[in-house]
Order: sequence, then structure tokens, then C-alpha cells
Amino acid sequence: MQKRVVLLNPGPVNVTKRVESALLRGDLCHREKECTDLIASIREKLVKVFDIEKNYTSALVSGSGTAALEMAVSASVSSDRKALVINNGIYGERIAKIAQCYGLETKVLEYTWGDLPQLDEIDNALKNDPKIEVVMVVHHETTTGLLNPLGAIAEIVHRHERVLLVDCISSLGGDELDFSLWQPEICVGTANKCVQGFPGVSFVLMKKDDLPRIEKISPRSLYFDLPAHVKAQDKGNTLFTPAIQVHYALDEALEELKDETVAGRVRRYGKAANFLRQGFQSLNLEFLLPLENYSNTLTSLKLPNGVTYTKLHDDLKERGFVIYAGQGNLSKTIFRIANIGDIRQEEFQELLTELGNCLSIQAK
Ligand SMILES: Cc1ncc(COP(=O)(O)O)c(C=O)c1O
Repeated sequence: MQKRVVLLNPGPVNVTKRVESALLRGDLCHREKECTDLIASIREKLVKVFDIEKNYTSALVSGSGTAALEMAVSASVSSDRKALVINNGIYGERIAKIAQCYGLETKVLEYTWGDLPQLDEIDNALKNDPKIEVVMVVHHETTTGLLNPLGAIAEIVHRHERVLLVDCISSLGGDELDFSLWQPEICVGTANKCVQGFPGVSFVLMKKDDLPRIEKISPRSLYFDLPAHVKAQDKGNTLFTPAIQVHYALDEALEELKDETVAGRVRRYGKAANFLRQGFQSLNLEFLLPLENYSNTLTSLKLPNGVTYTKLHDDLKERGFVIYAGQGNLSKTIFRIANIGDIRQEEFQELLTELGNCLSIQAK
């Protein structure tokens, strides 16, 4: 059997043969009943697998995670109100950029990448500015591997009776997201990260009781008109041509997630992250963050003196492992290793061995 490439980037991920095979379910016109059934099946599985069937609905959109994020951000703030964006990484910054592109009035609370947001600043911002309607935050800031304290943020937002919009693109299915306790009104996810499908379809999960508020907001985009997508999908239609084959794969990936259970997957990823982190410590690698601040799914590590990312990446790729660079001002100083997708324990073990080999080549 040919050795496969193991993807240690935070998505797209290695998927199972079962999900890959679903791509070949056949040709389909999106105006046929089979497509209606497919969309209905995915939407039903999404809310069932996260156990939010009673209070949440969903909208699927073809495109990467940013498409669903743009749809959620652009549709969720009333014209006379304002967004509060918590920015402690590239993806928080992206939310702010989307809000600005759509001309939304926005206040940004900015933190050094890797630092936790100051909860009292969020509290004060909401106390002092009644115009803020929606608080927008990234759950797992993939830039650094930091898991933002979503439960504490949700408590503040809801105490002030505001709406919480969460980018959980890299955390949904990988880290704990307590929907019943935290009740985020709007959550953005994608198929090709912890859900273990293919890139090309993403989604917004919404609390049903926040929909009437969103429906009153005039659309700011044709393609990303969130309530119009919900309405069409509720009627068994799609607004535009969906990426059908990746929907097939998402449908199967959700079936697979149901079999594993969300709690089971979160545990599997957590075990893998712990195993890798012990290995990184044995290799004397330095973590960018305190261990307790990391998500279950990604570790950011400082490049040792004399080691360049490009050579490390290329040496590991030759051995079958794809690692991930730092972004922005961290691009020269860190590298990242994600542990999501269908990766076997022996592959993690082999990665640690090969990482040790590649680091010692550069140390010579
Ligand atoms: C937290 C987060 N938000 C948004 C995105 C953007 O997703 P996409 O590249 O699928 O548009 C990513 C991608 O890694 C991410 O990790």
C-alpha cells in the first residue's frame, strides 16, 4: 500500500475512505428531489449530532469557512446598531475586516496574538455602549492554538442581553462547545476541519429564537443573504448551485461523527494533542502558549535557533508529513502542528520520530 501524506495543517484534513467514497454517489441536478433530500439530511444531521435540534436551525453555503463567516457577520447586525469584535489572532482580525467591508459600525477589542481577551473589558464595553448588538469572537484562534474562554464570554454577553456570534470553524467537533449552557446565537462551521469532510461547503448554526431579529435586517449581499438561505432550504430548495459532491461527503462525514459521537471525537483529539505535546517536550521544543491555554487540536511551537521553517517543512514533507507555518508576525518564529482528521496513533508516533530526525539534521 502506498504511504499516504499525513496532513498536520488545521484543515483540510485527512478523511476516511468512507467519506472519500461518498464523493462518487453520482451526478445530480440540484433542482431534483434527491438534492432536496440531501440538503435536508445534512441539516438534520448537523443539529442532531450536536444535540441542538430543539433550539437551532442551520443554513448551508457552498464555499470555504470564510463564506459562512461572511454570511453570518454581514447578516447579523441591525443598521442602527454595532458589532463588538474580539481580536486576538488572524481570524478575529478577519471578522473585523468582514464587518468593515459591509460598512458595519464596529468596535474592536484587540489583544496580542496568543493572549487571552480581558473579560472585564468586554463587560465594560457592553455596559458603556448600548449600541453594541452582536459580540463576535473566534472560539479556537487557529493562529496560535489558543482556545478562547467562550463560556465566560457567553455569560457576559447574555447578562447584557446581547447576541453572541462565534467562529467555531476550527473547533466545532474538536473542542467542547456547550450549546445548552452557553447558548451562542450564531455559530459558524465548516465541513473540512473537525467534522472531517471535504472543503467546499460551510454552514451557520442559528438559534431559532434569534431568526426573527435577523429577518428584519435588510440584506447586504445577494449570495450571502442568510435568512434567504434558511427560507429556501426550509422549503427544500437551494438559492444557488451547491457543490453537490462535497455535500455528499459532508452527509457521510456527519454519519461518521454520529457513530464516533462528538464527545468521542473531542476525547480522541484531546488524547492525540496530549501525546504529541509530551513528545514535543521530549524533543526540547518550546511552546508558544502556556499548555493550559491550548485547544485540543493544534500546537504552536517556537522554531529552535538555527532551524528554518522552510527546510523543516520540506524535510518532513519528504517523509510524508505536512506541517503548517506561522502567520503574520509569527511566520519566522513558529510552526504549527494540528492533530485533526483521520490520523492514526502510529502516524503521530512516526511524526515525532521524523520531527526529531529533521531537527537534528538542521542542528548539525
Ligand atoms: C478559526 C478560523 N476561522 C476561519 C477560517 C477560514 O476558513 P477557510 O479557509 O475555510 O475559509 C479558518 C481557517 O483555518 C479558521 O481556522
